[in-house]
Amino acid sequence: MCQQLLEVNNLKTHFFTRAGVVKAVNGVSFSLAERETLGIVGESGSGKTITAMSIMRLVPSPPGKIVEGKILYKGKDLVSVKEPEMREIRGNQISMIFQDPMTSLNPVLTIGFQIAEVLVMHRKISKKEAGSRAIEMLRQVGIPEPEKRAACYPHQLSGGMRQRAMIAMALACNPSLLIADEPTTALDVTIQAQILDLMQKLQERTGTAIIMITHDLGVVAELCRKVLVMYAGEPVEQGDVETIFNSPCHPYTRGLLSSLPVLETDEKIRLTPIDGTPPDLKNLPPGCNFASRCQEARDVCRQTKPVPVEIKPGHTVVCHCYITKESEVRSQ
Ligand SMILES: Nc1ncnc2c1ncn2[C@@H]1O[C@H](COP(=O)(O)OP(=O)(O)OP(=O)(O)O)[C@@H](O)[C@H]1O
Ligand SMILES: [Mg+2]
Repeated sequence: MCQQLLEVNNLKTHFFTRAGVVKAVNGVSFSLAERETLGIVGESGSGKTITAMSIMRLVPSPPGKIVEGKILYKGKDLVSVKEPEMREIRGNQISMIFQDPMTSLNPVLTIGFQIAEVLVMHRKISKKEAGSRAIEMLRQVGIPEPEKRAACYPHQLSGGMRQRAMIAMALACNPSLLIADEPTTALDVTIQAQILDLMQKLQERTGTAIIMITHDLGVVAELCRKVLVMYAGEPVEQGDVETIFNSPCHPYTRGLLSSLPVLETDEKIRLTPIDGTPPDLKNLPPGCNFASRCQEARDVCRQTKPVPVEIKPGHTVVCHCYITKESEVRSQ
């Protein structure tokens, strides 16, 4: 069997706060092959960013800590890698694009300098060569007059241009894995579409595997091959895009899909948003995390945790509705 590029296995990242232990990521497993694209979806607070930060080993500690699980990158467990080695991997083999580029761009350095700096650090090339490679990267992400823009400071660029510059920086070292955390939510719709289009083209050309974190299932449909749906720090369903969109099994996934805005008489309307709110991550219920909002919940859902069931190869759902006697035996 071919080795996966990334294999996240029962990852648990908790925050130890005065108010209690926040189980932000609580048993997440997924895998990604080279060149593959995975979307992670789920509503606000479901643990998407903390999953990404755990892979990058950027969870603020304290109060955060990876308490269990493995993050195998090319077979190496990133959970136990020492910080100097992690610095080599970060930005070089695994890059991340953050929701707000201003948090990851340095306001007092020019765009060109920042991209060149990454190249000098990881690729050990001369400053001059890095400078011209930085301009080339800016050209590749569709920034007009890249020589001129390279000399600009982040605040001198528009939001869309800054996000392009971030993408250029993230891709400068040709990483095997790019994690994009809501890369377009801060942008208006037209620019959003342009950036997604750009990412798709770059992905096809460079073959970088992508983890795309988003609230927007439309983005997933456009860009990803596989999807992981998260709820309250846990995966509830995963599979390939066609399966999840055409035959979603988990009531939460079905809810997400039916709350997708639909185009009707040129007006976007939200159909059926899911009623209720997610549970307190410091005080999770004994049964299924979604039970209190689930129309199909039965007693068993409120009493015991469901185990993952593989409905068909590559399609897994964590819901009592799909647990049969045989699947229970298999999961033990
Ligand atoms: N430093 C922290 N201390 C305590 N709790 C934290 C900390 N950082 C994150 N959390 C909690 O972890 C949970 C998961 O957060 P995360 O940022 O991963 O959510 P998300 O799915 O990315 O949401 P969004 O869609 O809003 O970006 C949240 O409940 C959040 O409050
Ligand atoms: Mg987030």
